[in-house]
Amino acid sequence: MSAVHNLPDPNKMPYALRPMHERDLAQAAEIERDAFPTLFPPTSFRRELKNRLARYLVAWRCEDPPPESQVAPPEQTDYARPSQISRFLSRARKNLWRGRPSAWQPGQQYITGFLGTWYMPDEAHIVSVGVRADYRGCGIGELLLIGAIEQARARRTQAITLEVRTSNHIAQNLYKKYDFQPMGIRKGYYTDNREDALIMTAAHIRGLSYTERLRQLTAAHQDRWGSADRTIS
Ligand SMILES: CC(C)(COP(=O)(O)OP(=O)(O)OC[C@H]1O[C@@H](n2cnc3c(N)ncnc32)[C@H](O)[C@@H]1OP(=O)(O)O)[C@@H](O)C(=O)NCCC(=O)NCCS
Repeated sequence: MSAVHNLPDPNKMPYALRPMHERDLAQAAEIERDAFPTLFPPTSFRRELKNRLARYLVAWRCEDPPPESQVAPPEQTDYARPSQISRFLSRARKNLWRGRPSAWQPGQQYITGFLGTWYMPDEAHIVSVGVRADYRGCGIGELLLIGAIEQARARRTQAITLEVRTSNHIAQNLYKKYDFQPMGIRKGYYTDNREDALIMTAAHIRGLSYTERLRQLTAAHQDRWGSADRTIS
């Protein structure tokens, strides 16, 4: 096979969606710390994966990690304990990728973001969405939201709701783009600074007009970022 077959497809987004697995737990926790530094206690993703009401999606990077993150440990020397040095160096090399420490381990898919939804009897509730800081602005948050909306529609849910900090205009823009409407305020909802939460809801997500709107937005996302494989259940 010629090398040209291995070139990335320019029409493909280099990220894909799939349900979160147990092997993603450390990376999910790392992304949560990155996205919500004041959150306490942190989410127990292990428990969430066992929660029958909860569904978590992750966005993962389709390309393999660059070779420098997979470099073999250096040759052993006589003047220090080799196992410690090689462990340190291989950890340091791995952390060179994107210049940040990472819970990613060789052989794993690299997770760039996650989104969690709780399915209540009459609506879906997005409980968390976060993208690694150095992967924001590349359409991954939007891809996760598209996946969550498609998942909710496939589960015959009529409405999706969520809370967002009143100061978080970036996330509010994302939700507004997908026709989430402000429905009210929860006073002092966030325990770290008593900030208010804005409740936003996308109602009638299985209706004809929302179906058409979602089709247009998904097509626009694909035109801009490339098509992404989406496994939502
Ligand atoms: C909110 C978050 C998930 C968005 O993820 P992302 O991958 O950066 O977003 P995308 O690149 O897919 O952008 C999608 C939309 O979000 C909005 N958005 C993203 N970055 C923005 C910015 N810097 N300024 C304003 N709006 C922005 C826009 O509406 C954008 O659509 P557009 O490009 O057509 O304008 C991400 O910023 C994040 O993890 N933030 C920290 C955690 C958080 O706040 N989570 C939400 C809690 S409710």
